[in-house]
Amino acid sequence: MKIIAIANQKGGVGKTTTAVNLGAALAEMDLHILLVDLDPQANATSSFGLQGVEQTSLYEPLLGEASIIEKISPTRRDDLFIVPADLDLAGAEVEIARMPDHLTRLAETLKPLHADETFDFVLLDCPPSLGILMTNALAAADELLTPIQCEYFALEGLVKIVRLIERVRDSGANRRLELGGIVMTMFDSRTRLSSQVVADVREHFGQRVYETVIPRSVRLSEAPSFGKSILEYDPNGAAATAYRALAREFIQRHGAADK
Ligand SMILES: Nc1ncnc2c1ncn2[C@@H]1O[C@H](COP(=O)(O)OP(=O)(O)OP(=O)(O)O)[C@@H](O)[C@H]1O
Ligand SMILES: [Mg+2]
Repeated sequence: MKIIAIANQKGGVGKTTTAVNLGAALAEMDLHILLVDLDPQANATSSFGLQGVEQTSLYEPLLGEASIIEKISPTRRDDLFIVPADLDLAGAEVEIARMPDHLTRLAETLKPLHADETFDFVLLDCPPSLGILMTNALAAADELLTPIQCEYFALEGLVKIVRLIERVRDSGANRRLELGGIVMTMFDSRTRLSSQVVADVREHFGQRVYETVIPRSVRLSEAPSFGKSILEYDPNGAAATAYRALAREFIQRHGAADK
């Protein structure tokens, strides 16, 4: 089992869209996936048509009051499970901050999953801030997968993320954390800017950038309001094709057999 934090401190870059649709595409390839919604906004949760029902989130497990295993819900798709988020999670930030092991609460919470080996990958959909929840995600993760929007400040944002990873490593909270991959999102083939940004990011970050680029697609932004991933909502469109290609590349990179 590998824990992947899907994170970028910048808002609206495609973290949740990538967590939901990469998760769905990996599950379609018969890998067992757990998506953990770590964002009190609960966008990943509502993307599956689920409501943030009280006491279903990671709030209690993070405070040591329940096990994560009790909070796992099925989704419509076989092999894809979710730990939903709710507004309580916002309160968890404050309460965790008071705990002595405040950087490693999430790592501790995820431990029972290692023991049981049901899941091939745990995807953490992180909130867009450098708060306690995101820091906990970085401390718990084997690697970071960072979606970057194809826009002018992409490289500046990445430099900040690289520094953040160095800080987490230096703090001792997680010495094995790596920037495992960069996914370029919202690529607009009609603009030269998109192509230029992808070229610049590849020049600086080489192999870490996924070959697959996610196109800008209205269908992707519509799918959550139907409680569907893009694989159900528009299975043959460019966006579904891209997320499937991303999943294949992800599997190759992780040496996980496409079952
Ligand atoms: N490839 C895409 N094409 C078009 N729209 C997209 C694409 N990816 C994401 N979006 C839309 O852009 C908005 C932001 O995406 P998303 O919620 O995935 O970003 P996020 O990084 O999780 O945001 P936050 O930081 O608020 O958690 C959403 O409305 C989403 O539907
Ligand atoms: Mg999000």
